[in-house]
Amino acid sequence: MSAPRLAVVVLISGRGSNLQALIDAAAGGRLQADLRAVVSNEANAAGLARAAAAGIDTRVVDHRAFNSRDAFDAALARCIDAFAPDLVVLAGFMRVLTPDFVQRYRGRLINIHPSLLPDFPGLDTHRRALQAGVAEHGVSVHFVTPQLDGGPVIARARVPVRREDEPDALAARVLAQEHRLLPEVVQWFARGRVALGTHGEILLDGQPLAAPVDV
Ligand code: GRF
Repeated sequence: MSAPRLAVVVLISGRGSNLQALIDAAAGGRLQADLRAVVSNEANAAGLARAAAAGIDTRVVDHRAFNSRDAFDAALARCIDAFAPDLVVLAGFMRVLTPDFVQRYRGRLINIHPSLLPDFPGLDTHRRALQAGVAEHGVSVHFVTPQLDGGPVIARARVPVRREDEPDALAARVLAQEHRLLPEVVQWFARGRVALGTHGEILLDGQPLAAPVDV
């Protein structure tokens, strides 16, 4: 008998290219996970069509229909919990989540962020990295905590910055690394290799991680 596959719900707000990377990795046998549902806060997110084309359940929970963050997050949690996920992946999900929501999914909520965290949390990371004149930029996958883009970082992928780089060109090179990094880290969860310890430390293969893994 084969081991049960990791049940995953993916949250998106837009394009869904990282979602596509997960879909492709699962279809290609590189990711032992069932993508149970894709939930978007935007009804017209292009990623919803990608999910539907792959035969994955889709749901929309529009934040504009709620008069508080708490009410939205409660509805979002009800929607997610109906699919009983082992892991919830924020893949371009553009809403800040309440501490209650984050706590509910402690240890099974991850986000992909386009910078080498802790550098450049928040928006517009590529432009800010260029302005700061860094030699290296990249992407991080981290556990979500109430602090925006501030949770423990599991793994990162680096991209050298070129002297002539424009934000769009840099973003495209980072995105290619995002599509490599995210399925890899989700596969670690599928294999039971990664966990969040009681003190907020990351355990990889049972050992505390001293620094994010370079993938
Ligand atoms: C990615 O750059 C991701 O790192 C960030 O939002 C973007 C989403 O892109 N959080 P996509 O929707 O996966 O194409």
